[in-house]
Amino acid sequence: MQLPEQINSERIILKHPLKPTFKLAEELYAIVDKSRNTLREWLPWVDKTNSVEDEFTGYLVSLNQKHWDEGNGFGYLIYQKETNQILGVVDLCHVEEKHQSAEIGYWLSDDATGHGYMQEAVRALESEAFQNGLNRIIIRNDTLNARSAHVAERCGYVLEGVMRQDCWDDYHQCLRNTNIWSKLKSEWQKENK
Ligand SMILES: CC(C)(COP(=O)(O)OP(=O)(O)OC[C@H]1O[C@@H](n2cnc3c(N)ncnc32)[C@H](O)[C@@H]1OP(=O)(O)O)[C@@H](O)C(=O)NCCC(=O)NCCS
Repeated sequence: MQLPEQINSERIILKHPLKPTFKLAEELYAIVDKSRNTLREWLPWVDKTNSVEDEFTGYLVSLNQKHWDEGNGFGYLIYQKETNQILGVVDLCHVEEKHQSAEIGYWLSDDATGHGYMQEAVRALESEAFQNGLNRIIIRNDTLNARSAHVAERCGYVLEGVMRQDCWDDYHQCLRNTNIWSKLKSEWQKENK
């Protein structure tokens, strides 16, 4: 499967950095670092991202670029069109071509929340994914992560159920429950008729 390097939407552009630079890593790290206290509650990689080098090698090159080259993960930085500022990240991961399925994950910097940017980003990315061979997309979130659940719900994902105590969480130091939301291509087609 392949997706375009850039996905255009009304207020935002999703851009995959094909050849990530250290300068980009600096910019992204500054955003992560500024929103660290919010992000770390829900995203385990935040506490392991403690330098520009971690951002560059650990995320941009070893994860984002590698998965793109292998065709099993498509990570995008979300840029606000008006300012060209990076607002956060949305990615299509765990792409299973045989099963025509994948997962969408996301985060925004603190000052980019509350404007509907993530709903816009999810809708832009899912449209590309459904048009390029996927049949099913899931979103997973901790049952206590109300803002993330709200994005899935507002984007029309169906709550399939809860995986009970499926995941050890270092931040909360306990086993957590995970919501599984999904949307099928037929549902997306109905929405976009
Ligand atoms: C999860 C997260 C991305 C949600 O961000 P968010 O800003 O709340 O989500 P959205 O961008 O979709 O914005 C939603 C709200 O923006 C407001 N909004 C303002 N202008 C809007 C517009 N033009 N269109 C839509 N919503 C708009 C609305 O109040 C909307 O809520 P509503 O749908 O009830 O009306 C963010 O809280 C985050 O990054 N959290 C930490 C990391 C995290 O938990 N990631 C997910 C791990 S599973």
